[in-house]
Amino acid sequence: MTDSRSYWENYYRENPDPNGESPFARFVSGFISAEDKMYELGCGNGRDSVFFGRLGVEIIGFDQCEGELRYLNTQNKLPNIRFEAADFTRLGVKPRVNRIYSRFTLHSVSEEKEKDTLDWCFGNLEDKGLLFIEIRSVLDDLCGKGDKVGDNEYVTTHYRRFVVFADFVQRIEEAGFSILYKIESKGLARYGSDDPVVIRVVAQRP
Ligand SMILES: C[S@@+](CC[C@H](N)C(=O)[O-])C[C@H]1O[C@@H](n2cnc3c(N)ncnc32)[C@H](O)[C@@H]1O
Repeated sequence: MTDSRSYWENYYRENPDPNGESPFARFVSGFISAEDKMYELGCGNGRDSVFFGRLGVEIIGFDQCEGELRYLNTQNKLPNIRFEAADFTRLGVKPRVNRIYSRFTLHSVSEEKEKDTLDWCFGNLEDKGLLFIEIRSVLDDLCGKGDKVGDNEYVTTHYRRFVVFADFVQRIEEAGFSILYKIESKGLARYGSDDPVVIRVVAQRP
């Protein structure tokens, strides 16, 4: 059971507005300039897309929550920001960009779909383009909580697949990327009293 769409639709009905970017978006802003073109995979309520858009980046945020994305498009006033309802694991042919961003989304899909997504990112990034990923690690305290539905896959209120640092980095390399930066740590994605162990990767299409 990896389809948690109704969980996220309900969540964003309660939290529709893009209030405050994530710490990962602030970290990624160091790799961004106003001329960049970016896709965000799994933008949720658009908080990080709006942050990058305000820096001048031309950005499309993709998410499966159609109602939320309709709302974000009606609220948005900046011409360089757009939201498109889509399954990010099946985006098909799109114009190439030089930045792709995914925060807390690849652990929402199976490893097979992660692989499809990494291949899609490689094919849709320009040469020297950068891929930014933040994802939950198997060392996260949440790993093991809820119903086990596969290897390191659990369902609580929704599905999560926790990843092994070295294996995840290897899958990114197998998709063709060079790794520019990688870290696995607590302290990177604090949210209230939660301080999960997460993995961050910055990868480059050669
Ligand atoms: C944990 S939230 C993260 C949202 C946002 N990146 C953030 O950091 O605030 C996961 C998001 O991924 C979206 N998502 C999960 N699987 C998806 C898929 N296959 N296609 C599109 N969106 C998906 C969910 O709808 C949800 O908005």
